[in-house]
Amino acid sequence: MADTLNSPTAADPAAVPRVLVLANAYSYRLEPFLAAAAKIGVAVVRGLDVPPAHVRAADDVLGLDFRDADRAVRQVRAYAARHPLAAILPTDDATVLLAARLGEALGLRHNAVASAEAARDKLQMRLALQAAGQRVPSFAAFTVDQPVAAIVAAVAARIGYPCVVKPTCLSGSRGVIRANNAAELAAAVERVRRLLAPLRQTTLLIEGYLPGREYALEGLLSAGQLHVLALFDKPDPLEGPYFEETIYVTPSRADPAAQAALTACVAEAAAVLGLREGAVHGEARLNDQGAWLLEVAGRSIGGLCGQTLRFTHSASVTLEELILRQALGRPVADVARERQAGGVMMIPIPAAGTLVGIVGEAAARAVPGVESVTITAPLHYPLVPLPEGESYLGFIIARGATPEAVEAALRQAHRALHFEIEPPLA
Ligand SMILES: Nc1ncnc2c1ncn2[C@@H]1O[C@H](COP(=O)(O)OP(=O)(O)O)[C@@H](O)[C@H]1O
Ligand SMILES: [Mg+2]
Repeated sequence: MADTLNSPTAADPAAVPRVLVLANAYSYRLEPFLAAAAKIGVAVVRGLDVPPAHVRAADDVLGLDFRDADRAVRQVRAYAARHPLAAILPTDDATVLLAARLGEALGLRHNAVASAEAARDKLQMRLALQAAGQRVPSFAAFTVDQPVAAIVAAVAARIGYPCVVKPTCLSGSRGVIRANNAAELAAAVERVRRLLAPLRQTTLLIEGYLPGREYALEGLLSAGQLHVLALFDKPDPLEGPYFEETIYVTPSRADPAAQAALTACVAEAAAVLGLREGAVHGEARLNDQGAWLLEVAGRSIGGLCGQTLRFTHSASVTLEELILRQALGRPVADVARERQAGGVMMIPIPAAGTLVGIVGEAAARAVPGVESVTITAPLHYPLVPLPEGESYLGFIIARGATPEAVEAALRQAHRALHFEIEPPLA
């Protein structure tokens, strides 16, 4: 379908808007955008993070170096001179900065480069929120080459325990570790330092531990106005020492006042950072003092989790369709999430080793309410759990009449799965 739309021989090519979708070639986020574009009759050119020389000359794919924005801007400008672009879409954290740069250069709907940068960097985000008077935990930044004893002394004086150590520019809870005392903090700092060395990142953020329940918000910004698409509960306690995501369920079971506080917290943070256009994904905690922002990003939800969301208009609409529509300046405010509840379980890696077998997939799929079970971890490859790892074993998606039913289905399906993991050789 996409091929016909992308073909220059389509009936009236000028009438079909063309969108540049930025993604890593292996990203799970690419395919749903391609499907959405095909469904609503939009042509797509994929901007993939592969060396330009490795991409065959074609009208529907560009090889872009995501770290060389100047060069990417030149390439996309040259491309757009031949094939006008109607919008540029980031699909994940790796693409938000380039999308902002390209949107600015081509005069298309975009987030300011500074806002995309601030939303990608946890220290910049905390500083901006603090300067704007938003509620933030106490925090301090350090570099990986500072002596551990100096870091521990500074944390004792300025933050206290429990605290959370985290890299400033990773995601998926990679390198995020809770420490309850000086010894745990010293170990956490050493561990995050080892993780960051090969990644050439040098900043450590340490902040006070925020107790409370955690929520995620998926929304769309149009000219700075937030349209909430879904508020998710995270029903598993996330108390550390590592913070693996497991279950997300929407609609939220929090009371209306709590939901309003969480929504306002994410909306204010987006406004403070200057995010104004496109998908936003926010995470926040709620306790007796109110809502506290963990982070907000100018992109949609990651992995396969977007499948949890379905919207009703005249027919069923996906999250990616809505994002495309908004990017093209089409109305989205009249679209609401479907009535039933939906949820996802990101199946965590329980131990390091090699995945050699999976038992129970059929049983997990047979659980009433379960819509799909997708194992994404390949067999015979090393599994790395958090805090160093950066992937899940897979995703379970479920739908049902109530959030309780969805949560129960996800847990039952997860219990039905057994992953055979051979321990690593010493
Ligand atoms: N200050 C904090 N207090 C309590 N929990 C935290 C804090 N910071 C992070 N976490 C936990 O760690 C998870 C990951 O941290 P986050 O800052 O969102 O980084 P990432 O980009 O890796 O998702 C959060 O979802 C939350 O559960
Ligand atoms: Mg997070």
